[in-house]
Amino acid sequence: MRWRPMTAGDLRVVGLLANAIHVRHPEDAEVFAERWRLYPAGCHVLADGGEAPVGYAIGHPWFLGAPPPLNSLLGALPDRGDTLFIHDVAMLQAARGRGAAAEAAELLLAQGRAEGLSTASLVAIAGAHTFWSRLGFAEVPLAGLHDAAKGYGGDARYMIRPISR
Ligand SMILES: CC(C)(COP(=O)(O)OP(=O)(O)OC[C@H]1O[C@@H](n2cnc3c(N)ncnc32)[C@H](O)[C@@H]1OP(=O)(O)O)[C@@H](O)C(=O)NCCC(=O)NCCS
Repeated sequence: MRWRPMTAGDLRVVGLLANAIHVRHPEDAEVFAERWRLYPAGCHVLADGGEAPVGYAIGHPWFLGAPPPLNSLLGALPDRGDTLFIHDVAMLQAARGRGAAAEAAELLLAQGRAEGLSTASLVAIAGAHTFWSRLGFAEVPLAGLHDAAKGYGGDARYMIRPISR
């Protein structure tokens, strides 16, 4: 099993995976299609050869301290972003516990470095902050994060880590 670049042909399965894994935080297929269209370099899938993907990882340049609401379209990427926002890393249960998620995080951090971005950031949901804190992410309080309009839920945590050069 390895990470490879996401293709247009993966988008349908990515949408299905997302809503099977994040049952309480569904997102529309167009959200994934837009991320891929805007920033394919930050979109990866975990797959065994030609098999259907069992996980995905998505990140893109964005503004620090302003995570996009869940299930929203971005419209465009910033000309001068200041963080590599990790939209999501998610894998089916059978693929977990083997280090693949840390590999995905490394891919996204490397992409942020290639863009010249100095931080990576994300919103950890459903207890995933324990995973991210092991990778060097630290929680930072963010006003409005738990507003219903953001869609992340009451236990969401905004997390940041530097990207070293
Ligand atoms: C988060 C995720 C990508 C991590 O992948 P993984 O293969 O499980 O990661 P690892 O095996 O390297 O590390 C797992 C550790 O993080 C912890 N962890 C991961 N997700 C967690 C969660 N939602 N709640 C509590 N702990 C979690 C595990 O308990 C485990 O700790 P342990 O080794 O002490 O048991 C994977 O669990 C997943 O796809 N989860 C569902 C989607 C998700 O929540 N994505 C993150 C959104 S911010």
